[in-house]
This record gives sequence, structure tokens and C-alpha cells, in this order.
Amino acid sequence: MEDLIQRATEQLIKSKHAITLTGAGISTESGIRDFRGPDGIWTKNPDAERKAYQSYARFQENPKEFWIETISSASLLGDLAKVAPNPGHSALAELEKMGILKCVVTQNIDNLHQKAGSKRVLDYHGNISLLRCFSCDTRYDRAEYDLDRLYKEDRLPPLCRKCNGVLKSDVVYFQEAIPADVAQESQEEAGKCDLMLICGTSAVVYPFAYLPRMARQRRSGKQTIIIEINADPTPLTEEGISDYLIQGKTGIILPKLVEEVKKRIP
Ligand code: APR
Ligand code: ZN
Repeated sequence: MEDLIQRATEQLIKSKHAITLTGAGISTESGIRDFRGPDGIWTKNPDAERKAYQSYARFQENPKEFWIETISSASLLGDLAKVAPNPGHSALAELEKMGILKCVVTQNIDNLHQKAGSKRVLDYHGNISLLRCFSCDTRYDRAEYDLDRLYKEDRLPPLCRKCNGVLKSDVVYFQEAIPADVAQESQEEAGKCDLMLICGTSAVVYPFAYLPRMARQRRSGKQTIIIEINADPTPLTEEGISDYLIQGKTGIILPKLVEEVKKRIP
């Protein structure tokens, strides 16, 4: 492990455009369960996963009913507004502040990268603290709408102030297309990065899992360095898409990386 951390430190310092891709694994040390790990939400409750695959169709069928159910029932991930970032999130924010990390592309909806101070964050699967218009894609801060009051006054669903369209959570449901702006920017980042740090994802959900493969293919002639930090090997490890895996907890390994980088950068 130590030698891999030294290697990653060297490569990070030499990189010109390093980015990071993250998944649920980086937030487990904040108390949010992941999906497919040993204690994962889908691992423990396959019915919930099957139901999640129906969400998008059910929202489109009857947005009002969907909103009523969403507001009156607890989220599978718990109350994310109350959760704090952990040293893994903070380490990535610090690497950005040092000018080494250019961008975070995350599958997580928990807003923890932003809470940790990361500035350039692409929420690939949306952000729980935002709403998005189903018609014009305009996003709003969830706090701009008093959803509980709309619920009590039977005035759901919330409507877009620009086009009067129906608002949905910004969270991207299974079967829903990734919003064009985030998809475009993420592909650009994957195409131009020279180092990709992949943290806490099983890398089995598409189209996100294409991003490392794009990074591997794109830079003809020039090698993109792809490093995984994960509790378990993934298809990226097995298929040799990543150069190497540092196996362990992101909340422990990432702060160590920052420490090593700091030792070498005056
Ligand atoms: N440090 C490092 N790795 C961890 C840690 C940790 N502290 N905790 C868990 N892991 C690893 C797990 O072993 C697993 O390999 O992180 C990975 C998490 O994988 P998933 O649970 O599949 O989460 P993710 O890859 O983000 O899922 C992708 O699937 O359910 C959908 O929309 C949801 O965005 C999510 C997407
Ligand atoms: Zn709109």
C-alpha cells in the first residue's frame, strides 16, 4: 500500500489535468450506506432496487402523486441534509485548492463534495438539494420552494417559474437520461484529463462507467493514468482499464495522499 501511495503522489504532482470520479463508497464514512457493498442498500433490499427502477415511469405518469409519496416517506439514504463530509471529501477539496485536482465528477447525490469545499463538481446523477424543470431543465435550489406547505395546501407538484413546467428532484432516476449539460462536461473532462482518480465506486453503472474507458481510449499516444481507490476490486481493475488499485478506505487513503503531496510541494 505504501509504495502505491508514493507512486500516486508522484503521478499527481506531475499531472497537468487530474480529475476524480467518485461513488457511494466515498460517503460511507459519513454514515451513508452504499448500494452494492456488503452492507449496501440494494444488497440488503433487492425489492427496493426493483422499485427504484419504476420511479421515473411513475413520476411521468402522475407527478403529483409521486411528489406526495416522496414528501410523505423517508428517503432510502436517510436525511442527507444532516450528513457531514468526511476526511475523504476534504482531501479532494484540498487537492483542488492546491491546483492539482481540476474537477470532481460524482455519482453521489449527497452534496458532500460541495459541503467539503470542492468548487468544480459535476453531479452526474443529480443533487438532492436541487430541483430541475422537466420541460426546460432549469435548476432551482430546493430551499426556494416550500414543499411542505405545497403538500399541506394540496398544491403539488412544484412548478417552474420560467416555463410553468413540472419540477422534479434534480436526482437522476434509473432509466432517466443524464442531463445534457453534466453529460457533456463530464465527457470533456474524461477526454482531456491526464490522470483520473476513481474513488469508492463499483463502476458497474452506465453511462458513468464509460468515463474511465473514454479516458483510456481518447488520448491517442499519450497515456492517461487511471488510479482506483476502493475497498474492493472492480471491473476496471479486472479488465485492466485502471493502472492500479489502492485497496482500502477512501477516508484513510486520500488524506495520506494529501499529506505526501504536501511534503513534496514547497
Ligand atoms: N472506501 C473505499 N471504498 C468503499 C468504501 C470506503 N469507505 N465504502 C464502500 N466502498 C466501495 C464498495 O466496496 C463498492 O465497491 O465502494 C463501492 C460502492 O459501489 P456502489 O455501492 O455500487 O455505489 P456506486 O458505484 O456509487 O453506484 C452507482 O448506482 O444505485 C445507483 O444511482 C446509484 O449513483 C449510484 C450508482
Ligand atoms: Zn421550466
